[in-house]
Amino acid sequence: MTEHQFLPKTSYTFLESGSVAAQSPSNIALVKYWGKYGEQLPKNASVSFTLSQCRTETTLSFERKQSEGFEFEVYLEGKKEDAFKPKIQKFFERIERYVPFLTAYSFTIETKNTFPHSSGIASSASGMSALALCLVAIEQLLSSEEMTTQHGTEKASFLARLGSGSASRSLQGPLVVWGKHSRIEGSSDLVGTPYPYAVHSNFQSYHDTILLVDTGEKQVSSTVGHNLMHEHPFATLRFAQANEHLEQLITVFETGDRAQFITIVEGEALSLHAMMMTSNPYFVLMKPNTLEIINRIWKFRKETGSSVCFTLDAGANVHVLYPSEEKEGVSKFIRKELAPFCKDGAFIDDTVGTGASLL
Ligand code: PMV
Repeated sequence: MTEHQFLPKTSYTFLESGSVAAQSPSNIALVKYWGKYGEQLPKNASVSFTLSQCRTETTLSFERKQSEGFEFEVYLEGKKEDAFKPKIQKFFERIERYVPFLTAYSFTIETKNTFPHSSGIASSASGMSALALCLVAIEQLLSSEEMTTQHGTEKASFLARLGSGSASRSLQGPLVVWGKHSRIEGSSDLVGTPYPYAVHSNFQSYHDTILLVDTGEKQVSSTVGHNLMHEHPFATLRFAQANEHLEQLITVFETGDRAQFITIVEGEALSLHAMMMTSNPYFVLMKPNTLEIINRIWKFRKETGSSVCFTLDAGANVHVLYPSEEKEGVSKFIRKELAPFCKDGAFIDDTVGTGASLL
């Protein structure tokens, strides 16, 4: 696979105006992407569960214009959001080669999240992938040549990646790999691809309850975090570890070994945070309540033999992962023992899902 595949193949027949809409979910990485090179390419391969409830819905309207450059307005839940514009401007600059109709239209981006905007949950994965899918839909309206569904999905993932790396993993589900890995056929640095091998029934209906420990602004943006890996003393080992973890997960997925799954997934979360604690400058992204929650999960697992485990993104919130047959017991445990450590007791119940779609 090369970038060239994603350049438009035919010239466009321009419509005067129109509108498309798409929804796309967030995803939670089991093996983390943290460190990039070139144009949003990952230093190691990652794999994630696609979520289903935490989603962005975006309507993209377009109207023909004659002026040069990009022209767009962004609305979040009906309210004009100029704060989003610089990120989208940069996204448009990066993807213009691949969707050159961008400068031919004035766009209105109307977007809403199914999760609270202030929840501290990354909306960039769902937001960028929903917008990318809308752009591919417009390209299909303007092109005379049929685009296969697979190419359309790959192109949306390719574009989404240029907006936010992890967004490349939100187009499909339930398990998506992003980043070239020698043991995973079809894997690519350019796009997210569905995990291609056997997945034991033990891993086929997972829940992710997201505990909202800290709902403020991210302490460290992912751009800053990824950049800190450039000069990081442990970077090379970290990238090798992630690729090794992904290789181990191939066997875990096949055999259904939940104990080993827990070891890898929790180890990944802690490695990501260890990278931030040992960078220059250094950051502690956990809060005291994050640690309380982790300790309680460990205690609960020890006492009950449950397969519940945790993972973290680059922040203080905790993703609690567990198989659906444990839902009743784990839900009770979360409400009683973990929710008190969340901001205003808030958490979001999510399950593994299948990815983005047009609306
Ligand atoms: O997609 P970005 O650039 O916001 O990076 C996100 C990276 C993590 O969420 C911390 C890990 C991952 O693989 O999703």
